[in-house]
Amino acid sequence: MKTLKVALLGCGNVGSQVARILLDDAADLTARLGARLELTGIAVRTVDAPRDVDLPVNLFTTDAESLVADADIVIELMGGLEPARTLILHALGAGAAVVTGNKALLAADGASLYEKADAAGVQLSYEAAVAGAIPILRPIRDSLSGDRITKVMGIVNGTTNYILDAMDSTGAQFVDALADAQRLGYAEADPTADVEGHDAAAKGAILASLAFHTGFDLSAVSCEGISSVTAEDISAAKDAGFVIKLLAIAEKFADGDGGEGVSVRVHPTLLPRRHPLAAVHGAFNAVFVEAENAGELMFYGQGAGGAPTASAVMGDVVTAARRLVLGGPVPAGRPSGSLPALPLETVTTSYSIGLEVA
Ligand code: HSE
Repeated sequence: MKTLKVALLGCGNVGSQVARILLDDAADLTARLGARLELTGIAVRTVDAPRDVDLPVNLFTTDAESLVADADIVIELMGGLEPARTLILHALGAGAAVVTGNKALLAADGASLYEKADAAGVQLSYEAAVAGAIPILRPIRDSLSGDRITKVMGIVNGTTNYILDAMDSTGAQFVDALADAQRLGYAEADPTADVEGHDAAAKGAILASLAFHTGFDLSAVSCEGISSVTAEDISAAKDAGFVIKLLAIAEKFADGDGGEGVSVRVHPTLLPRRHPLAAVHGAFNAVFVEAENAGELMFYGQGAGGAPTASAVMGDVVTAARRLVLGGPVPAGRPSGSLPALPLETVTTSYSIGLEVA
């Protein structure tokens, strides 16, 4: 029976759950694949750091380069731009399939990763980078590839949804709801990337790239967070029959010169309370998709957390392993279209006090 060597880079919340699944569910995975997935090592900064999951100590190493050089599948869950980018490029160059959840890296420099993967003819997959456990990237890329997507709107940051939902249900001010989110472990000690919309913007760039077959990076995304939303804004919205949600929106627009472009933006949005996204509470995520033939679709679930996000990572690992066992073509990673990104002011005139009615 074939054995595939799996290298894991990073052992935080998600990485430790991926390691647990690879070890605990090994028999099931082998039966499903007809091949063994052997976790050869876990690259970390500090070997003896305390961890949530009890894992064999001999798996840990600080030598990520050597681990990558000897792997069939590399799972990158370190986050950040470097050394993640260099390690992924080395892995792809050496012919390994790569699975990553690194939305910041994909949104900043996805193009060079896709190019390397395509040149090497290996798989680069990243379902976990957007909306945690929710299968959303493959449905957009594969299941809807015969349709024309016109709009994607997502609650893709659980921390901000928790904060806005708490403000809506209790009348709390932003700072108090944020403190609550930090106490519950949703928001980071430095919650800037969440509350200023940067995390959602990275996810928006990835969603837009797949939905509109064109590489959009972070510079194409207009971004406004929720730190200036007040209890009074929420209350006024409520009185008028709306809820305020932080949405990542990607939509196709006529550009006024007979061409088409895509508006990619993140901002607080007024949603009618009957809209399906209005019913997304707490730290949950959901992505609402409109396509010419499919009509409206909604994908809902846990957008963060160790085990839920590990589920998405493992889906990519099993898919990559299947391809390595059975052969078959690797889908092109690089989006091939060339729609321009439209600046926000080109596409809406109703944008005032940071709120837009969806
Ligand atoms: N900070 C992110 C969130 C984690 O709150 O959704 C998942 O990307």
